Amino acid sequence: MVELTKTGIDGLDEILNGGIVRNSTTLVSGNPGAGKTILGLQYIYNGVELYDEKGIFLSFEENADDLQEAAESIGLENWGQHVEDGTIKVYDKQELLRENDFSSSLELLLGDLDNESYEQLVLDSLTMFQLFFDNEREQRTYLLKFTDILSENNLTTLMTNEQGTVFPETEVGLENFLTDGNIFLLQTPTESGVNRYLWVAKMRKKNIDTDIFPMEIRQGGITVHKNASAFSMMSEEDSPL
Ligand SMILES: Nc1ncnc2c1ncn2[C@@H]1O[C@H](COP(=O)(O)OP(=O)(O)OP(=O)(O)O)[C@@H](O)[C@H]1O
Ligand SMILES: [Mg+2]
Repeated sequence: MVELTKTGIDGLDEILNGGIVRNSTTLVSGNPGAGKTILGLQYIYNGVELYDEKGIFLSFEENADDLQEAAESIGLENWGQHVEDGTIKVYDKQELLRENDFSSSLELLLGDLDNESYEQLVLDSLTMFQLFFDNEREQRTYLLKFTDILSENNLTTLMTNEQGTVFPETEVGLENFLTDGNIFLLQTPTESGVNRYLWVAKMRKKNIDTDIFPMEIRQGGITVHKNASAFSMMSEEDSPL
């Protein structure tokens, strides 16, 4: 039996038929503002609040205070308290970028993994993480090495990635192949704001629902609407396809 880790995000675990495969790495891709960071924050927060699983949040994009503000602004009120008591471990931009190569940052992380047991990890974002490396070959090698280390330490990981939806004519990044799961967040402008969608394109070892589902971001975080009628009610123009 494949073991699963729940995200605790409304609607998402259902689409995933129970959750993310344990000890796997899933890429969460989308354009700026699509909700990648929020999804990551909720995943780590729900792990602690709902499932008693400790989490690590690696942010190459924000510092710890900004992250806490982002979490609190969507209603994850106990974020700061969990960081304080160590059930959520944050490595922020300042800390990660202080080390001038990835090996030193990795040493930091490995030290903590030896002393404490964590179950969940978010890397926000892979795009920034890749700037540590000079060329694509090195990026690929390190990504593989890093995902192996995470899996050996029994971590179930989400990595965010700046990447639009994959249509046949666009190039599919190698990171999509090197990870076990792919989730895409899409947003399309409308007259009154934006329509948001979520698409689970791949989850190795797992039967998943590969339709594109509408989602919302509001107080409390992300809600994915499994209910297909909500989708069909949207006009053609609003559809991402
Ligand atoms: N309380 C809220 N209610 C409704 N929408 C919100 C709320 N908080 C944030 N948002 C929406 O979420 C979006 C930001 O999501 P998030 O920061 O997760 O995006 P991202 O994909 O990480 O973007 P980037 O690539 O720039 O890091 C904002 O653009 C905003 O529209
Ligand atoms: Mg972000």
